[in-house]
Amino acid sequence: MAVQTVASTGNTTVDLGPAAALSCRECGHRVPLGPVFACEECFGPLEIAYDFSSYDTEELRKRIEAGPANIWRYAPLLPVPADVADKPNLNPGWTKLVKADNLARTLGVTGGLYVKDDSGNPTHSFKDRVVAQALEAARAFGFTTLSCSSTGNLAGAVGAAAARAGLRSCVFIPHDLEQGKVVMAAVYGGELVGIEGNYDDVNRFCSELIGDPAGEGWGFVNVNLRPYYAEGSKTLAYEICEQLGWRLPDQIVVPIASGSQLTKIDKGLQELIKLGLVEDRPYKIFGAQAEGCSPVSVAFKAGHDVVRPQKPNTIAKSLAIGNPADGPYVLDIARRTGGAVEDVTDEQVVDAIKILARTEGIFAETAGGVTVGVTKKLIENGVLDPTKTTVVLNTGDGLKTLDAVAGTGLTATIRPNLDSFREAGLAS
Ligand SMILES: Cc1ncc(COP(=O)(O)O)c(C=O)c1O
Ligand SMILES: [Zn+2]
Repeated sequence: MAVQTVASTGNTTVDLGPAAALSCRECGHRVPLGPVFACEECFGPLEIAYDFSSYDTEELRKRIEAGPANIWRYAPLLPVPADVADKPNLNPGWTKLVKADNLARTLGVTGGLYVKDDSGNPTHSFKDRVVAQALEAARAFGFTTLSCSSTGNLAGAVGAAAARAGLRSCVFIPHDLEQGKVVMAAVYGGELVGIEGNYDDVNRFCSELIGDPAGEGWGFVNVNLRPYYAEGSKTLAYEICEQLGWRLPDQIVVPIASGSQLTKIDKGLQELIKLGLVEDRPYKIFGAQAEGCSPVSVAFKAGHDVVRPQKPNTIAKSLAIGNPADGPYVLDIARRTGGAVEDVTDEQVVDAIKILARTEGIFAETAGGVTVGVTKKLIENGVLDPTKTTVVLNTGDGLKTLDAVAGTGLTATIRPNLDSFREAGLAS
């Protein structure tokens, strides 16, 4: 049923399933599928254009439901070959959508509150979804080294995916990341390079490397493979709707670093509507940032269309991108859907991590603290409607950012006898 579009890039012929071309988000200029990310006409970002014209809604729904319990159930909607599930990759996705009734009571939500818990992915963050797409593109374009600039989670996801696929990996991170993220990225055996600078410096360095013979043959998942990589976040939208019984939620709260994930969740929801897989009705998308890196939130509140870069200073290091590439598109989506972009302090991030852990037994990394904290703030400010179905994303695992909750630990240290236990005031 999938339309097999075979595109030609130089000497290579690539089969990326329903992906038909790359199309500029600004001027609509189309180019064949290839490892490019900027429009040759206007320098706008390129994204994947699909041919879904042969799909029958009910046939597609059945095919998805009969598919594997991972992102490849949505292969007909992704830039991947039809046999993708048979290739060595991490098969991420189909993570839990947790009905968070205790958290709902705590936050005063009556319309149904869900946590999409993406800490359940193979390397414990949503980044496995995007890397899985980039890996297919890397294979199609003949790259032998997988690389990226990362705020931490992506580094681990690239290292693991490359290990499974038998490719070399060499990834770049700011030198001062959390130990959990560094170990998680290094353990898969690829090369891990700390750069003396922040994420924006790392990203600039990677752009330079792409243009240099030193980086020849390298697929940078979030730079020259970015159009493919970004599509992986659509699977969060697909899963949320399918797990809700093929229904759109009313409100979704999404963390923002570069803003890619938020824009692709919107793209995924729009596709489901156009394909007839969900009813066409309004939904609102809310963006969440930490105050110490809040360029999009500041622009939203000021009514600006442009995002002024910031120098990040927050414990939410995975979201610490001071110059977010997709910032203006996030502003458009928040405004178009009637959502908002808000930020919370580091203290509120830590509080929110604890609230989620203590109400639902979900240990989120700081990015999850940001989304839960922003959800709480938006409800308190009357911006988010507590009577509507709301989905909050937890995109990473708390074990990677233990320092954020370093104050939590032993309740007491006792001698191994009952008297000592009673003295500690723990007896029932
Ligand atoms: C845990 C986590 N959540 C969310 C994001 C945001 O991703 P994006 O750059 O797509 O906005 C990141 C990015 O690194 C992340 O690591
Ligand atoms: Zn263009």
